[in-house]
Amino acid sequence: MEENNHIYPIFDRMLMRKDKEDLLKQRSVMIWFTGLSGSGKSTIAIALERELHKRGLLCRILDGDNIRSGINNNLGFTEADRVENIRRIAEVSKLFLDTGIITIAAFISPNNDIREMAADIIGQDDFLEVYVSTPLEECERRDVKGLYAKARKGEIKNFTGISAPFEEPVHPALTLDTSVLSLEESVNKLLELILPRTQKK
Ligand code: PPS
Repeated sequence: MEENNHIYPIFDRMLMRKDKEDLLKQRSVMIWFTGLSGSGKSTIAIALERELHKRGLLCRILDGDNIRSGINNNLGFTEADRVENIRRIAEVSKLFLDTGIITIAAFISPNNDIREMAADIIGQDDFLEVYVSTPLEECERRDVKGLYAKARKGEIKNFTGISAPFEEPVHPALTLDTSVLSLEESVNKLLELILPRTQKK
């Protein structure tokens, strides 16, 4: 046993983010979409993931479908619940980033304080804020889930853009208005921003 001691240091060091990034041959980054309900956050996130995947890059999308229905299914839409929603999402995102995975979050995340909290948890350098700035009128016209109509009738309380505030980001890395840009145009702009950051150094 004694004579084998020299091999133990190899097992000493816990594997770090860099080790995982090296294994995956990529660098991880957080792409954080913010914008109103129906603005196109998830649609763009899904198309972006597909394009990155095609280029051999491993991604993870977090959105309402996999977070609010699971880990956060005890949270609603009060200010406090939204803060807790985003806090948990940021913590989970950090785990993915530390595994070397490009992480894409699509949540309303309605104000600067909430997004700042997420950026602080994740790390400012890794956090790319993307504002999906599709105007309220267009989101409401689309009303994909029929929620705006219900919110107008008062059947849903605290609905972002109607009865709860949405604060525009101050310095987003990118702004995408899906009432003007095609999905392909939005994804191309994102690829331009993201691809250089995902190259392994
Ligand atoms: S937040 O503000 O970041 O915590 O919201 P998020 O987790 O992104 O969830 C937004 C989706 O939940 C649906 N929904 C509501 N949105 C806003 N306000 C209220 N009161 C509300 N109630 C339900 C809505 O469909 C949002 O879906 P998206 O995917 O954004 O369209």
